[in-house]
Amino acid sequence: MSSSPAQAIYLRNYQAPEFALDAIDLTFELDPQATKVSAEIQVRALGENRCLVLDGQDLTLLSLAIDGRPLDADEYQYQNDQLTLLNVPSAFCLSTQVEINPQANSALEGLYLSNALYCTQCEAEGFRRISFFLDRPDVLSRFTTKLIADPQHAPILLANGNPIAQGTLADGRHWVQWQDPFPKPCYLFALVAGDLVCIQDTFVTQSGRSVDLQIWVEAENQHKCAHAMRSLKAAMRWDEEVYGREYDLDIYMIVAVNDFNMGAMENKGLNIFNSACALADPQTTTDLGFQRVESVIAHEYFHNWSGNRVTCRDWFQLSLKEGFTVYRDQAFSADMNFAGVQRIEEVTMLRSAQFAEDASPTAHPVRPDHYMEINNFYTLTVYEKGAEIVRMLANLLGPQAFRQACDLYFTRFDGQAVTVEDFVACMEEISQRDLSQFMRWYHQAGTPHVQVQGQYCPQTASYRLDFQQATPDTPGQTNKQPLLIPITMGLLDAQGRPLPLKLKLASGEIQALGLQGVLELTQAQQSFEFIGLEELTEAPIPSLLRGFSAPVKLSFPYTPTQLATLMAQDTDAFNRWDAGQRLALDTLMPLIDAQVTQIDLAQDAPMLLEAYRALLTEAEHTQDQAMLASMLRLPSFAYLAEQYACIPVEAIEQVRQAMRFALARTFYPQWKALYQAQISQQAYAPEATQIAQRSLKNLCLDYLLALAAVPEYQQEVYQIALTQWRTSDNMTDARAALTLLAHAPDASWGRDPLAEFAQRWQQDALTMDQWFSIQATRPYADTLQQVQNLLQHPNFSLKNPNKVRALIGAFAQQNPLAFHQISGAGYAWLADQVIELNGFNPQIAARLVIPLTRWQRYQDTRQTLMRAQLERIQAQANLSADVYEIVTKALQ
Ligand code: ARG
Ligand code: ZN
Repeated sequence: MSSSPAQAIYLRNYQAPEFALDAIDLTFELDPQATKVSAEIQVRALGENRCLVLDGQDLTLLSLAIDGRPLDADEYQYQNDQLTLLNVPSAFCLSTQVEINPQANSALEGLYLSNALYCTQCEAEGFRRISFFLDRPDVLSRFTTKLIADPQHAPILLANGNPIAQGTLADGRHWVQWQDPFPKPCYLFALVAGDLVCIQDTFVTQSGRSVDLQIWVEAENQHKCAHAMRSLKAAMRWDEEVYGREYDLDIYMIVAVNDFNMGAMENKGLNIFNSACALADPQTTTDLGFQRVESVIAHEYFHNWSGNRVTCRDWFQLSLKEGFTVYRDQAFSADMNFAGVQRIEEVTMLRSAQFAEDASPTAHPVRPDHYMEINNFYTLTVYEKGAEIVRMLANLLGPQAFRQACDLYFTRFDGQAVTVEDFVACMEEISQRDLSQFMRWYHQAGTPHVQVQGQYCPQTASYRLDFQQATPDTPGQTNKQPLLIPITMGLLDAQGRPLPLKLKLASGEIQALGLQGVLELTQAQQSFEFIGLEELTEAPIPSLLRGFSAPVKLSFPYTPTQLATLMAQDTDAFNRWDAGQRLALDTLMPLIDAQVTQIDLAQDAPMLLEAYRALLTEAEHTQDQAMLASMLRLPSFAYLAEQYACIPVEAIEQVRQAMRFALARTFYPQWKALYQAQISQQAYAPEATQIAQRSLKNLCLDYLLALAAVPEYQQEVYQIALTQWRTSDNMTDARAALTLLAHAPDASWGRDPLAEFAQRWQQDALTMDQWFSIQATRPYADTLQQVQNLLQHPNFSLKNPNKVRALIGAFAQQNPLAFHQISGAGYAWLADQVIELNGFNPQIAARLVIPLTRWQRYQDTRQTLMRAQLERIQAQANLSADVYEIVTKALQ
């Protein structure tokens, strides 16, 4: 917690560092409560200034010397997290020694203990909790790190780079010294010390160098590392093949720790992972978990180039490395899995969660221009929207030019700390395009709305598309300028056949685009005219925003028939799926507005009924179970909620359930047959085809269990779910069945299975997290009482971020009925947890409070109750900068 009041930092005030710290030689004498950190730093003044101000937080200063001469008390000052050295020479060696307390570090930033394991998290500004330094990404130094520890407690001693020496001291402690040959900012520093085992492999790079790959875990997790290793090797190969990027050290280490605020961290040569993102095993990890491990392993590996070799000048540029690296890991995952469904999942998350952030009090540009606490900016906007921006650049340039521009970026800026402008300048240089308007994507917050109308003129055999774009105001930003929005599109005839695109340019020239083209919107209003449509007898159907070519909300007045044609015929998988989503929204929203409780499909949803009939009829023959499962899934609560300025919580949930019920009942034989057809005798493997089959199977199971309260189906569906729970050999199927049993209206269905689960997995922390989540998301108001009880469960701990996310996070974000219960009890309970967490882990507290900040989206009673809790939090003494910033924005 910062001792000084939180203050905003502005991008426009950026100043280059006035000192270079060319090298730092660190020595750690590790001790749980009193670790001594000595640093020898080679300092060089870059200008006239001789007053050196170093960052340092919660450090007990033991000694300070310049070129070996201890400093007098009047030569320095340590206050407000800054160490000021007056009148330093132009070049010198600074020796510092400090003491820190890893055991007392519950914020999990800097050096801390996770169980008995020493580990670090320095991004963004954690290094200042370890040693005095210029803790900013544009100061790059060569690091050597010597670790000294009791060999009993910490037999394994790891840091960045290569081990260069080791030995034993007279007092029995052992030591290892590491050297990282690549200059790096201190946020990429890491050390790990403890009792770990490792699984090893090797990778031969494209130039023939052999790299040692090591994954370090606690002994009981050794059997859970194979998937991470496989993923790492695939990622290393992929980055060579797709980006020409080769790994640069002789050793690459990954360590899994249980207590970690985020997913993982790309420290040079020594990645530290939340164990949830590294460990995987069929018995305890779902398919989704396996895919997450694959993508996070790849993400951190890709950072070695996009982040480490070329890093950020300042933290405002965070998306330079994160947006780019997410784009890279998404492309990797698309190559490892089914690309169409991969894209659908990315967009689903963007549209339900990032769009919500963009429309909230904490909305911010992909490159923010100010912040109080940078940890609050590791957001969906910086990461996911940032990735969409890079995707648009890649599509605007085309694969070859984009690759050339990336090569140029990596070569030109290797070893440097740069800005978003530097990145985009490489794109401009290679493509010879002016991207100054495109830069607005980085500056303007909010989700653009694109409204499209079509004008078909049979006389001239032409079709005109009229576009309007507008970006809503966001806090602190009004009068948004038009963006460059690439719209990938095609035209279909009424039978769904693709039409050749002949675009009439302003000059009168005709441009033939083939069957698909990219329209570039640059103005608030703009029209495009297609000609040569003589064959048509009625208006063509536009297939717009294929592949989700820009992160916008696009509307077009489609008829249900047009949507059905797109669903069945479009060449673009994403748009086939999205046509289904539009049809579902168009059907569900009027029912939500009317607050219906029962749905007669033939009456209330004739087109959706036909669409499902068509999908289920062809289901037997499909080769693409993954796509079919996506098409058959109803829009989520979160996506439906996003369609409303004022979210009708109960009505959305009620209509979604009524629709699920109606579809389940109407197509019961089909769901059952399709379910049975997916049952496989193959041994579990987390590979794409099997994953697809399980996702379809478990979707069918979800529909079957919609009938859990209907007497004539009850026993049968109960037995199906129970049998799957009892007989499945993997967590994907077991968890799907358990969730449906535990969420059934009759609470007794889940009782034994939940007890069996706890009995079996109580020793396995990550697996118990799933048990907490399943219970936290039971869609009934009395879940609050159960969640309160679970806080006291011996396996629960507020100190462990994964547990907090699994129980409290899941309740507040994935259980709308219980969280938003009209008494306000859900809000008050969440606020209690935020207040408690604020005292020891501000980062997690600030994340947890987010659902309350969305108060404007609910009706008056809820608004008042949510605001009251925000005000209660705001009134707390000792509020961290993290929570203060979020709560203040929410109440403005
Ligand atoms: N750079 C990490 C990543 O790959 C995220 C670490 C952020 N940690 C934090 N405490 N803010 O995404
Ligand atoms: Zn990252």
